[in-house]
Amino acid sequence: MNDADRHAYFAADWLSLREPVDHAARAESLTAAAADWLAGQADATYRIIDLGAGRGSNLRYLAPRLPARQHWCLLDHDRGLLDTTRAEADRCTDANGGPVTIETRTLDLASADLEAALDGAKLVSAAALFDLVTQDWIERLARACARRGAAVLFVLSIDGHIDLAPAHADDAVVFDLLAAHQQRDKQFGAALGERAPAVLQQAFEARGYTVTRRSSPWQIDRTQSELGAALIEGWRSAACEQAPQAAARIDDWAKARIRALRRGELAMSVGHEDMFATPGS
Ligand SMILES: C[S@@+](CC[C@H](N)C(=O)[O-])C[C@H]1O[C@@H](n2cnc3c(N)ncnc32)[C@H](O)[C@@H]1O
Repeated sequence: MNDADRHAYFAADWLSLREPVDHAARAESLTAAAADWLAGQADATYRIIDLGAGRGSNLRYLAPRLPARQHWCLLDHDRGLLDTTRAEADRCTDANGGPVTIETRTLDLASADLEAALDGAKLVSAAALFDLVTQDWIERLARACARRGAAVLFVLSIDGHIDLAPAHADDAVVFDLLAAHQQRDKQFGAALGERAPAVLQQAFEARGYTVTRRSSPWQIDRTQSELGAALIEGWRSAACEQAPQAAARIDDWAKARIRALRRGELAMSVGHEDMFATPGS
């Protein structure tokens, strides 16, 4: 596996760990706006595409909050993650308690097959994906969504605002290295990292969409110390890859931050943004 591949695959355990915090962070008003928009459409069934669906966290959050007649298509290049969602069709219901139908498809989103996979979509959604992609890819996605008249609900895109309180003298050193690492290729080309929310807005507005953005930060304290520690460990690893010569200093920083979190002496806010956009007439 080369470097780009390694950073484009995610551990199932990590996705499970982050799911409750992701759900708590999401901007409810944008989910409600998506539900209202779908309810105003005349389709017999609403085809909802989830890009980079992973273990189906976005489906589990959205299905019970959206109106009846949902058909979901979960797309991911990791068949193993998609297979964990097999039982969801029996568990998931829509806002009226009715059934939701689901299909999964193994797809490399960077491939030429992206556009065909969006055919028939009424709502295109994604969670925690866009830091991995490029501006060109977002332009391609916006063009394809606009041609199909699909609304989009993209959530939990990192925005680069990380605040650890109290501060540590090396926070800025690690976060600068992290921001640089986030721009490495993740199979799409040089990644957008924290620039994704602004690029999404610009690309969809340029194609006549009405765009609303809301912030959806993770708020992590001692009660989510397992997630917080895994996050700090991920930051440590990325920063060390970016600056191996500073590994000892970065390791010390990570140990101090995890220790403080577990003692209840650290509060973490990790910035994300959600975006809902409806196509022009
Ligand atoms: C951070 S995870 C988020 C997963 C899920 N949306 C969630 O919220 O739990 C990013 C997802 O994008 C998928 N992914 C990354 N690069 C991809 C690509 N080129 N094609 C398809 N899926 C990709 C990964 O396999 C992973 O499931």
